Amino acid sequence: MTLALDQRQRAMLAEIGLRGFAAVPLPAVAQEPAAPPVAIRAPRPAVAEPTIARSTPVPAAPAIAPQPVVRLPAGPVAQMDWEALAQAVAGCRACGLCERRHTTVFGVGDLQPDWLVVGEAPGEQEDLQGEPFVGQAGKLLDNMLRALGVDRRRKVYIANVLKCRPPGNRNPEPAEVAQCEPFLRRQVELLRPKIILALGRFAVQSLLGSTEPIGRLRGRVHQYQGVPLVVTYHPAYLLRNLPEKAKAWADLCLALEQLRAQAG
Ligand code: URA
Repeated sequence: MTLALDQRQRAMLAEIGLRGFAAVPLPAVAQEPAAPPVAIRAPRPAVAEPTIARSTPVPAAPAIAPQPVVRLPAGPVAQMDWEALAQAVAGCRACGLCERRHTTVFGVGDLQPDWLVVGEAPGEQEDLQGEPFVGQAGKLLDNMLRALGVDRRRKVYIANVLKCRPPGNRNPEPAEVAQCEPFLRRQVELLRPKIILALGRFAVQSLLGSTEPIGRLRGRVHQYQGVPLVVTYHPAYLLRNLPEKAKAWADLCLALEQLRAQAG
C-alpha cells in the first residue's frame, strides 16, 4: 500500500533523515486532535516501598558471546496490579543497578495503548527525569512515530527492558535483564497492547529470548504473549548509522499495517 504523503508526513520524514523517501509504503493516517495523556507516569511510591529481594541467584555475565536471557520465575510480580507493580519497581533492589540510580524509570504513556514501545534502559536524562526516551534517541523515536501519525502521548506506552540506568550507559548484563524481565512481562500482561515495537537487541533478548542480530529478525512479525511484535533498530543506533533509518521506517510501517489489520 503506497499512499501519497501529505505535507506534514513529508516534513516528518525529512526530519528523521528520510527526505525523498516517498517510495516506502506509508499508511494514510487520520488526523485527530491530541488528547491529554491518560496516565503519564507510574505513581511514586507512598511511604513504604515494597522491595524485591536480591535472593534469586543469576548466572554471571558472559565474557564475549551474547547469551540468551535466563527466565527467572516471575514469583509475586506475576500477580501484581499496575499500582503494585509500579511500587515494586520503584523499590527494587534485585541487582546492583539500584545502588547508583537516581530514580527508576517504570514507563510512560497511555494505559490502554495500541502500541507498546520497548527500549533498552534509561540513560542519564531518563535516570534524572524518571521518564523513558527523553534524550536525542527519544527525539528521533518521537519523530518516527509522528511520521506514522502516532503521538507519543496517545495510544502509546513506552517502557524499557531495564528500569534502572546502567552506569556510564554500558550495555545491560544478562543477569540484569533477567532480573528485570518479570516486570516487563507483567507490564505487557496488564497493558495488553495491540502491537509491540522492540527497539534494539536487548529488547529482543528480553522479549523473544533471542540473540540473533536485529538484521535477521526484522522485516517479519513475531509474537510475544499472543501480541504481534515487530523488531527494529534502536534509535540511538540509527543516530550513528543513518542509512539504516530507511529499514527502521519500513519496520514501523509493517507494525502499523499489523495494527490496522486487527482493526479489520
Ligand atoms: N532512553 C530510554 O529510555 N531507553 C533507551 O533504550 C534509550 C534511551
